[in-house]
Amino acid sequence: MSEKDPQLKPGFNRFWMAIVTILAVLVFVEWIVPAASRGITGLPFPLTVPRTLLLIYMVLTLIALFLFITFSDEYLDEFWQPLKRFLRGDFGTGSHTAALVIVPLLVAWWVFDLKMPQLEPPLALRIQHPSSNFPKSSEDLKNPYTEPSENDVKAFIQEAKAGQVGFIPQLTTDLESWRDMNPDSHILEAINTGPIREFLVDLEDGNVDQESAKLALVEKNLFEGRALYAMNCRACHGDSAFGDGPMADGFKLRPINFTDNGTLETIVEGYTFWRVTNGGPGLPTEATPWDSAMPEWKLSLTEEQRWKIIMAEYDLAQKTPRIPEAH
Ligand code: HEC
Repeated sequence: MSEKDPQLKPGFNRFWMAIVTILAVLVFVEWIVPAASRGITGLPFPLTVPRTLLLIYMVLTLIALFLFITFSDEYLDEFWQPLKRFLRGDFGTGSHTAALVIVPLLVAWWVFDLKMPQLEPPLALRIQHPSSNFPKSSEDLKNPYTEPSENDVKAFIQEAKAGQVGFIPQLTTDLESWRDMNPDSHILEAINTGPIREFLVDLEDGNVDQESAKLALVEKNLFEGRALYAMNCRACHGDSAFGDGPMADGFKLRPINFTDNGTLETIVEGYTFWRVTNGGPGLPTEATPWDSAMPEWKLSLTEEQRWKIIMAEYDLAQKTPRIPEAH
């Protein structure tokens, strides 16, 4: 086979094919997959592609290309063609000069970047409760679902009388199938706990008092919070809030054990709300060196749902929030 042959069709030369394939795989995993994930999930951020996955794809691509190129001597010859032509100076002397300038510059930049001392002091200690960007206004926030207002209780009594108690949308399917199985029961009976049973007895007798209705409403809020916790937080924080969910072992910075005295109990409710709302991405630099995997819950849960989860979180851990100091 003549040396000149492959030059006639440079577009299909195996050398360029290898370069284009590597770039295509890189672009696919780095940009197309994250963009598609945004389209599929409808979330305002892309799902992360693990670095190891990119590495696996690149290694597989290189192995496949190696087999493809070394399949026969002709193929290998064809692969070397552009490099040989370049060395012979077929692309003009300018190309040699350009390579002599660009390649050392790239290597120099890479070495510089690698060896350049970092200006930030290394942070050995991680601050578990960083507060430099915690808005002061959130400090005194109270969970509106643990202490419902008189009006909320009144509205709840009206709803209960009409048998039309509103629940968070995440529970609709389960409550509907419960209703199908218990067509003659009050919807609140789905929550089979003391305060709810007492409230339903009062409701039946027609002498509902504000206090028992309030307890029942708090119980209903807690029920919703527990369901939301199971759906959203359990995977990392565990059934009993020990920080031992099935995903927990995958993180260098483990989910926190909420039953530990140094955690939930030491922070005010407003702080917990802010942490859950903004997740790991909302933490300032003193929370590094390891990044928290906590999702940014404001993107997928409403304010009401976040407060109800926090209620369930404290309840599961059997802890009470720290009381804000008087200013
Ligand atoms: C992908 C795993 C993951 C999920 C899901 C998750 N968390 Fe976390 N969470 C973490 C990790 C890891 C930490 C510990 C690192 C840190 O401090 O941010 C944490 C920390 C927290 C903290 C801070 C505790 C403290 O004492 O500072 C709160 C509060 C919290 N999570 C609440 C929640 C709630 C509520 C949910 C569900 C809506 C949830 N988390 C879901 C991983 C997760």
